[in-house]
Amino acid sequence: MAATQLVNPFREGLREDRATTPVQIVIFGASGDLTNRKLLPALYNLAQADLLPENFCVVGFARSEMTDDQFRDALRKSVAESGEVRVRDERVLDELAKRCYYVSGMFDDKSAFARLAKVLAENDQRYNTAGNRIFYISTPASLFGIIVEQLHDAGLTGAPDTPGSVRIIVEKPFGRDLASAKALNTEMLAYLREDQIYRIDHYLGKETVQNILVLRFANGIFEPIWDRNYVDSVQITVAESLGLEGRGSFYEETGVIRDIVQNHGMQLLSLVGMEPPTTFDARDFRDEKVRVIEAIRPIDLKEAVRGQYGPGYVNGQPVPGYREEPNVSPSSMVPTFSALRLFVDNWRWAGVPFYLRAGKRMPKRVTEIAIQFKEAPHLPFRKSQIEQAEGNVLALRIQPDEGVTLKLEAKVPGPSMRIRSVAMDFSYGATFGTEDASPYERLILDCMKGDQTLFDRADGVEAAWSLVDPLLQAWDADKSMTFPNYAAGTWGPKQAEELIRRDGRAWRLP
Ligand code: BG6
Repeated sequence: MAATQLVNPFREGLREDRATTPVQIVIFGASGDLTNRKLLPALYNLAQADLLPENFCVVGFARSEMTDDQFRDALRKSVAESGEVRVRDERVLDELAKRCYYVSGMFDDKSAFARLAKVLAENDQRYNTAGNRIFYISTPASLFGIIVEQLHDAGLTGAPDTPGSVRIIVEKPFGRDLASAKALNTEMLAYLREDQIYRIDHYLGKETVQNILVLRFANGIFEPIWDRNYVDSVQITVAESLGLEGRGSFYEETGVIRDIVQNHGMQLLSLVGMEPPTTFDARDFRDEKVRVIEAIRPIDLKEAVRGQYGPGYVNGQPVPGYREEPNVSPSSMVPTFSALRLFVDNWRWAGVPFYLRAGKRMPKRVTEIAIQFKEAPHLPFRKSQIEQAEGNVLALRIQPDEGVTLKLEAKVPGPSMRIRSVAMDFSYGATFGTEDASPYERLILDCMKGDQTLFDRADGVEAAWSLVDPLLQAWDADKSMTFPNYAAGTWGPKQAEELIRRDGRAWRLP
């Protein structure tokens, strides 16, 4: 007897948004951490969900020596170990593995790119991929330029007289300051058109981040109150309980501003702050996003707090301080925490502070945007009747426990008038009952379809760098800071508390 299949009515009739154009995807940095933890599992999940085109294959390229078979084993291993995947059908994995190829070589070696070109041409024959390629550059930013140049020299950047479309995905951080980001844009645009470049920020691939737009622009009730007349302040928290996870050398070059604030932090702020775009197509949407970032007032150094964690306890376990982590200098001045008070100088947001904090080794992993609304203009209740009132807060829970909460004041049941804050709650998991797709799946699929909406444009990354660049320079120059200044497992240095307390406000502890 066939089991009755329960259908979640919220998911009924969902369109399967499959990519249909044939394509080969080439991953540069194919033996790296991101490829193993995120990209290969994402490709498997797309295959499992039947979202990949029929004519499709994968080519890995990296310095490590590997055969095709070893790369196929790496795929199986990363699918098994990433924690991102539940293999439901071994045949799908076998088929995907069969379609994986590998080229090893140095990124500045012409002959390696000639070998790559040969493999791509053979695969075009084998899989009918018609010259369409996506090059996913998952290497340090310092290699982006040389890879693009090599692709160009090998005739692989999709010149007008060659068949097929060529798109390039580049990982963040895009550059390490304004000058290098500009140089990188110039370097890439010497060989590619802007519409071929997909600057990825995986936060834009998160369902809950996209839901910020739906909440704001598909509901009529929020937009009228989404401004300085009704909003008191905005708090954005990107807190991680994790430390460096073996990425000491990377983080020493990066720090919290380059790792989180310049990209993920700015994405969140721009989605909350942007004007309604006329349409959700790539140009309109990105125009509005860039405008908000450009409207942010230059950061006042007195309104920027930095921190670095010392030893402490996270989830009851002792953890080392930043300076004791592998591949970190014992006298490192790299910040692992920052708290900023920002202002968006435009008509909508004049005078509304945006507090943005981000850090590693916080007590818990939580990314949240809280819109704090102003108090009711007059309370006809006695002070003694108000037991506890937080005011109206709309909390967008990006992760974990994805959802939206609206805090309201309510009457406590009973014969007397007593008032308390209660929560109206929407939870993704409970409502849609779906497994959270990795943001990389959505973004790779969008790139296959040629949709740049959720990718950064050159002016967008440059605007974000323009904002943080002076801060980075000032912090680099000023060595007077005493680090560490917060214990792992706490919410950052006490100056972060002061930053908001002097405005008569407090951080929400999500
Ligand atoms: C990456 C950063 O971009 O984002 C990491 O390099 C960070 O340091 C990660 O841990 C956080 O991503 P998520 O999706 O876990 O919030």
